[in-house]
Amino acid sequence: TRPPTVNVLGTDYPTDHMTNISPTIISKLPLKLHTQPSHPLSTLRSLIESHFPTYAHLSSLSPIVTPYHNFDLLSFPADHPGRAVTDSYYVNKDLMLRTHTSAHEVEVFGRGETRWLLTADVYRRDEIDGSHYPVFHQTEGARIVSADTDGMKEIEDDNATLEAHLQRSNIVIEDVPHLSPTNPCQPAHDPKHTGLISKNLKLSLNSLILGLFGGRVGATPENPLRVRWIEANFPWTTPSFEVEVFFRGKWLEILGCGVIYQPTLDNASKYFSPGVKNKLGWAFGLGLERMAMILYSIPDIRLFWSQDPRFLSQFKQGEITTFKPYSKYPACFKDVSFWLPENMNLHDNDFCDLVRDVAGDTVEDVKMMDSFTHPKTSRKSICYRINYRSMDRSLTNDEANIMHALVISRLEDQFRVEIR
Ligand code: PHE
Repeated sequence: TRPPTVNVLGTDYPTDHMTNISPTIISKLPLKLHTQPSHPLSTLRSLIESHFPTYAHLSSLSPIVTPYHNFDLLSFPADHPGRAVTDSYYVNKDLMLRTHTSAHEVEVFGRGETRWLLTADVYRRDEIDGSHYPVFHQTEGARIVSADTDGMKEIEDDNATLEAHLQRSNIVIEDVPHLSPTNPCQPAHDPKHTGLISKNLKLSLNSLILGLFGGRVGATPENPLRVRWIEANFPWTTPSFEVEVFFRGKWLEILGCGVIYQPTLDNASKYFSPGVKNKLGWAFGLGLERMAMILYSIPDIRLFWSQDPRFLSQFKQGEITTFKPYSKYPACFKDVSFWLPENMNLHDNDFCDLVRDVAGDTVEDVKMMDSFTHPKTSRKSICYRINYRSMDRSLTNDEANIMHALVISRLEDQFRVEIR
């Protein structure tokens, strides 16, 4: 009983067995928080852009992409888990919502851009809690230079300037080697070139991080900003890295990056003209909510979507200020326990999307409390605890009960469960 078409951003698309984009998600697509004047995500975007003044700044690409652009052109293996309908949102089998801004890399290089930033909303199916939301924002950045002495000279000069700047700052960087046996140079590259590009990538990002955090989150000589680089693995870069920032006693991952895998650039010349020849470089993708939560002290990721003037009126475009929390309204916990039909399984992400469609941003968090399979009937039983809490007002118990009853009846209709 699936409708034949689904309307997304004003266009009707045919649906099929892959369609799983939900009304809640569809309602987020037009909002583009990163372009809303004075919104913290928009300020963060513009601060990042002003740190790279000579780069092209893009922020209006459509979130609807092909799996081919989101995965295949970036050398994702055919069986990568990110492709599953439980992890990503599909309009139908041929179109999906981008899961990362890297989905546009090949296209932007194909247009001939050599230094660029791209900020956009990205979509991933996920659990529900204070730091996960199925829509978030990323800024992708990339730089490529010619793979010859001219290109390398440009990088070396830039490295010298950046290094001098960073040495004067209250930042402590835990580094990893530019190249290692577990994070190797690509066959197509000269290790000397790759070393210089890796170094330029690290210096450019350390300088960005210092520009954004330095002086704001207590970067003093006694209490310097701590940043740590770790080896990572992405199908379209090698060597690859992740960066974490130490904040309130925890290491927080804020970005992924690496030296662009040559087939990624080759794909640009294969599918777009004039293409990218004899160039190499780096790319990074950075999560804006994570950074903004730190910089503005925003405690819950749902707040970015709030229309409440007590939230929105606190911010001015271009300025980072500390969020003043208004009172938290009481939580309202409701449990639901049910038996699944025989041989059926229910993915947490399917349950969470169902709850979001009923409760919207009034759901703060969903926890699985219990799950077991009956030894005789081999039916599975699951119990979830939902925390209903509005950010804008006090919920009455009756209101929570109404939402919870709707969650239960949809569970029964859509998944044929038996409530316990
Ligand atoms: N797209 C990656 C992510 O979402 C980040 C990334 C971008 C990694 C560019 C390498 C290069 O995690």
